[in-house]
Amino acid sequence: IATEIVADAAAVAERVSDIILARVRAQPRLTLGLATGRTMVPIYQRLVAAYRAGTVSFRGCTTFNLDEYCGLAAHDPASFHTYMRASFFDHVDLRADHAHVPDGMAADADGESLRYERLIAAAGGIDLQVLGIGINGHIGFNEPGSPLRSRTCRVTLAPETRAANSFSFGEGRAVPSHAITMGIATILDAREIVLVATGRDKKRAVEAALNGPVSEDCPASALRRHHHACLVCDEDVLVR
Ligand code: F6R
Repeated sequence: IATEIVADAAAVAERVSDIILARVRAQPRLTLGLATGRTMVPIYQRLVAAYRAGTVSFRGCTTFNLDEYCGLAAHDPASFHTYMRASFFDHVDLRADHAHVPDGMAADADGESLRYERLIAAAGGIDLQVLGIGINGHIGFNEPGSPLRSRTCRVTLAPETRAANSFSFGEGRAVPSHAITMGIATILDAREIVLVATGRDKKRAVEAALNGPVSEDCPASALRRHHHACLVCDEDVLVR
């Protein structure tokens, strides 16, 4: 994995948003794979700012988010649907029918997973997939132990993931136990991948992904099997 280390989270957001904007400008019909989470917040802020400045249009783009919690409706304040509307979809000219997020309320999670895989295929595959990384090395919601050949499916969230994400859920509200996520093989099918990591709590996971064995124990290590993947991180994660 090509690695770019920049000073801080703001510089990471600048670099990653610049990569995304360059790809969209070069290919207005780009299919983008998107992530949620705290790492992505300043990246979406920069994309929205570029749109407002009139330097980019997402009108021709199609997007696929990595994951959604099972049991959360699209309008639920803690859902990734809501996160995406609040941070990106509602502020740019992306067509609503081109912005895809797995349906966490689907009664048949296997059917929903298959539908999502087919939608990605019908869109011609993902050109650029943006990824965060969990403190346990997860990508999407593919937790340690997930098969590296996995496709989109319903998964059980690890306790450390539920703890890390509990801030989005009100006091006394449990983080869902399951999610629908693109699989590791689905992610690796993207033509280009940018992995983003900021802050000291990602150091161990990133080091395992880069230097440990390519193994189910660290799902992000699978990115080393991709020929066009890069990591953009800050100096809290890796030293220059
Ligand atoms: C989010 C996702 C997750 C996050 C990861 C890091 O859609 O798939 O893999 O990217 O958990 O989350 P943050 O950025 O909140 O540390």
